Amino acid sequence: MSTGRPAPEREATIRGLRARLAEARAAGRTVGLVPTMGFLHAGHCSLIERARAENDVVVVSIFVNPLQFNPGEDFDDYPRDLDRDLEMCARAGADIVFVPGGQEMYPEPVATTVRLGALADVLCGASRAGHFDGVATVVAKLFSIVGECSAYFGEKDFQQLTIVSRMAADLSLPVRVVGCPTVREPDGLALSSRNAYLGEAERSQAPVLRRALEAGAALVQSGETDAVAVEAEMASVIATAPLAEIDYTAAVPVSTLTADGPLRGDVRLLVAVRFGKARLIDNTGCRAG
Ligand code: PAJ
Repeated sequence: MSTGRPAPEREATIRGLRARLAEARAAGRTVGLVPTMGFLHAGHCSLIERARAENDVVVVSIFVNPLQFNPGEDFDDYPRDLDRDLEMCARAGADIVFVPGGQEMYPEPVATTVRLGALADVLCGASRAGHFDGVATVVAKLFSIVGECSAYFGEKDFQQLTIVSRMAADLSLPVRVVGCPTVREPDGLALSSRNAYLGEAERSQAPVLRRALEAGAALVQSGETDAVAVEAEMASVIATAPLAEIDYTAAVPVSTLTADGPLRGDVRLLVAVRFGKARLIDNTGCRAG
């Protein structure tokens, strides 16, 4: 399919990207940024399309960031397919694909990182120590490299979206952080690069995350304000999938992501579940009280 746009320019250096964007800004053009780790799917493309609709110049970054992987996690095995990614970026309307090498992003052992507060210690932060500091550090670098822009993040990684929004506000970074809805398979499984790790039986059971969230949301909507009861309900649904191993189920206020008494107002329900090698996450919003 032809989009009538030229193929995106590929840029591997920070200096080169800054020069292109300086030129665009001097011509009064707005910039949209979509940070990714590649192995793109329709979820990533929805962010690129949203950026395309709202900006004059769209930059997609592809960089598997070593700082956000702990020892023993899947950094080496993380799926990579740059040629396919470049095609998908072209189709979704990217103008520039920033593909820095490890040396370009981290020429020296890193001495300065972003250190996050309590938002990073809960949920996924509890089982992936230091993960969000690594995410925040690379995102801060990308924001610094790209400069004034709107940056698009998926609600699928809700804790990440919350942390990045707070970091941009706390550090007065010139970036408008935009959250975008989760794109799903027809059976409800949230698209994720890590779904590639699922075996056939695991894949057939994976939609249990979505079903658990729906059951939790229904309970909150029926008036339940006890977070523990909502979390137990979600866990009981996940337990119906024999290959699922629960990391956490959580019902928390959207502002702090930390339980503090009865649920009231905007609540986020979040689950993390291991299926063999794949650790899957999903979440949904609802109102309590
Ligand atoms: P990655 O997992 O490649 O995701 C890139 C962006 O795509 C994130 O904002 C993520 O929330 C979004 N995304 C993933 N699956 C989605 C889905 N099913 N629907 C909508 N959006 C989806 O998240 C990262 O990379 C990294 O941590 C990064 C922010 C790039 C920093 O290294």
